[in-house]
Amino acid sequence: MAEPTDVPTPVSETIALRDGTAMPAVGLGSLRMSPQETDTTISSALSAGYRLIDTAAVYGNEAAIGTAVRASGLPREELFLTTKVWNNDHGYEETLRAFAASRARLGVDYVDLYLIHWPVTPIDRMLRSWEALLELQQRGDVRSIGVSNFMVKHLRALSERFSELPVINQVEYHPLFQQDDLADFQKELGILIQAWAPLGKGGVLESQTVTTLGEKYGVAPAQVVLKWHLMRGRAVIPKSTNSTRLAMNIDLDFSMSEPDLAVIDAMNEDTRLGSHPDAPPTNGLPDQ
Ligand code: A2P
Repeated sequence: MAEPTDVPTPVSETIALRDGTAMPAVGLGSLRMSPQETDTTISSALSAGYRLIDTAAVYGNEAAIGTAVRASGLPREELFLTTKVWNNDHGYEETLRAFAASRARLGVDYVDLYLIHWPVTPIDRMLRSWEALLELQQRGDVRSIGVSNFMVKHLRALSERFSELPVINQVEYHPLFQQDDLADFQKELGILIQAWAPLGKGGVLESQTVTTLGEKYGVAPAQVVLKWHLMRGRAVIPKSTNSTRLAMNIDLDFSMSEPDLAVIDAMNEDTRLGSHPDAPPTNGLPDQ
C-alpha cells in the first residue's frame, strides 16, 4: 500500500455545489469499465490526480472500484465517490435498500454524491426515491444528492413537490449537444450540470474547429473541449482507460479566450448520442 507521502497532489480544480461541498471539476466516468480493467484504470487515474470516481449500481463495477480506491492508500476524505440508484429500485424503501447495497459493495461509510440515475415513471414512485435521498443525506450516509438524465419537466416536478432540490443534474452534454434550455433552467435553481460524454464519446475530437483551437493553444483537442466545459461552469466526467489520455484529460491548466469559447458554443447541432431521458434503457447497460 502506498504511503501518504507517495501520493501525488490532486490537480483537478474544484467546483462549489449549492450545498457547500467542493467537488472535483473533473472526474473519471467508469461505464463499461470491466472489473478487470478497473484496477489498473483507477490506479492510473488516482496517480494522475483524479479524486472523483463516478460509478452506478447498474455498471456492475462498484465492488472493483471500492477495492481499487482502498488499494491506493489515499485517505477517504480526499476521494469523491459518486454512485446512482437504478430504475428497478425506485420507491422509498427500495431506494434505501439499493443505497445500502451500493455502499456495501463500495466498502465505504458514506458516499459523496448519490444520484437518481434516470427519470422513470410513474413519477410518484420516483419522487418517493427523492425522499429517500433526502433521508440518506440527513443521516449523513451521503454528502450530496442529485439526479441524472433529467429534463426541465422532471426538475419542475421535483421543484413543485420539494424545497430541497438536487445540487447536480448529470446529463449528456458536449459541443454537438448543448442543452441551453436545460442549462438556463438549472442556473435559476442553482443546479450544476455535470457533463457525461463531455467529449461526445470521442466523436468531436476530429473536428477541424477543435483541432485548430488545439493547435492555437498548444494542447490536444480533448483538452480544448474539456476546458470549454469548465470555463462555461460545467463539471465533466470524461472516460478513458488509456493512462496517457487519462492524464491529459485532467491537465487543463490553460485558459481560452471568450471568442474561442464562443466558437465551440456555435458547434451545437442538438445531436443526442445517448438514450433519450423518456426512453430509458430497459436491458443491458445505459449509455451513461
Ligand atoms: P479511450 O478510452 O481509448 O481513451 P466520452 O467521455 O465523451 O464518452 O468519450 C470517451 C471516448 O473518448 C472513449 O472512446 C475514449 O477512448 C476517448 N477519449 C478519452 N479521452 C481522450 C483523449 N484525450 N484523446 C482522444 N480520445 C479520448
